[in-house]
Amino acid sequence: MVLQGRKITVGITGGITAYKAAEIVSWLKASGAELQIAMTASACQLITPLTMKVLSGHPVATDIMDTSANWHAPHIDLADCELYLLLPATANIMAKAAHGIADEVVSASLLANHAPVFCAPAMNTYMYENPATQHNMAILQERGWQMIEPDSSGLSGSPIRKGQLADIDTIKQAIVGFFANASKLAGKKVIVSAGPTYEFIDSVSFIGTRGSGKMGYALAEAAAREGAEVVLVAGPVSLNDPPGITVKHVVSASEMQDAILDEYDDADIVIMSAAVADYRPAKVADHKLKKGPENQCLEVVLTPDILAGLGKQKGSRFLAGFAAETDNLEQYAQGKLKEKNLDLVLANNVLEDGAGFDVDTNIITAIYGDKIERFPKMSKKKAAKEIIDLIVKLLG
Ligand code: PMT
Repeated sequence: MVLQGRKITVGITGGITAYKAAEIVSWLKASGAELQIAMTASACQLITPLTMKVLSGHPVATDIMDTSANWHAPHIDLADCELYLLLPATANIMAKAAHGIADEVVSASLLANHAPVFCAPAMNTYMYENPATQHNMAILQERGWQMIEPDSSGLSGSPIRKGQLADIDTIKQAIVGFFANASKLAGKKVIVSAGPTYEFIDSVSFIGTRGSGKMGYALAEAAAREGAEVVLVAGPVSLNDPPGITVKHVVSASEMQDAILDEYDDADIVIMSAAVADYRPAKVADHKLKKGPENQCLEVVLTPDILAGLGKQKGSRFLAGFAAETDNLEQYAQGKLKEKNLDLVLANNVLEDGAGFDVDTNIITAIYGDKIERFPKMSKKKAAKEIIDLIVKLLG
């Protein structure tokens, strides 16, 4: 889960172990990383760009002048990542990177890159041990490049010397370790609620709320990407359970409350994005009610206000609620912040185009303390990341 949605660029250069990049790339893809691949001309002779395209699910940059629809400017697009993995790294690419040469797409993207670089050198032992290579590596390390040390090995009978690409598991561990350490919510337990609740009238009919669960699921995934242990309490939705997240499926408000309270003791953060029904029928018939005369009254009673209840036993937890409003957005949301004893309210006007229920986008106003932060319309996934980043900031 720690690699889910992580933007990683893989630069492949012309070492004989270029074929091993295929295994790493397919593992990264299977782990949910978003990949961009750049290959030098010599790498393309050792493994085809088509192979890497199929494995990464993304067009491969081989030409810095590629002006096709795939790229805006390949070397700049490639630099937009959270980690740049250079694998295998030849002596040549390290020499170019150390001295700012940008004469093809991999070296140019490294020059434009400002994300951390993990570099897995692989070359002939004498090339590796050459003072020029060692000097270039020292320059790059000085600039913060992380070298994934080559293995020391020798063909049978020959002396053990360094230069062979590090073991694949070592490379995988380095990548996972990087993202696990960079995870802003490592060690935190986060409860997220999502979707609607249904309050049954009889075995067939219910009153309930709208809600696809998209906002809550995106929040759960964004929290998990930051290394949190996430429990997602979901009302009736038709979304797939996200991998690596504990999902508790519930139907009614009181089931949602029970599921959340079960997890609350050791929780650090709760984000209530579920649209919880405010009322439930006073009685639930155990059989299907027969159609009767017009204008019947249904007696309803309040459901538990889950979030207000959590606010009463808040302790040191961080509580975030949503406010679904149709008017006076900020004023009502500020009221909820105080009344429910929250740290953060995320208000959305559910009548606004591209916001609220069912759609893939949202327009969020974050309210905390006496601050109001207005976000523009963006995908729920992006909004979820912004919200998690804000929570991390507020947690200090
Ligand atoms: O699921 P989607 O289709 O992606 O839609 C997302 C969303 C519109 C449902 C979401 O962005 C949202 O606004 N969720 C909150 C909906 C809501 O119930 O708002 P409210 O203003 O009525 O409630 C305020 C807060 O109290 C909410 O955090 C709510 O979860 C909580 N609440 C409400 C009632 C209740 N009985 N118990 C609660 O805990």
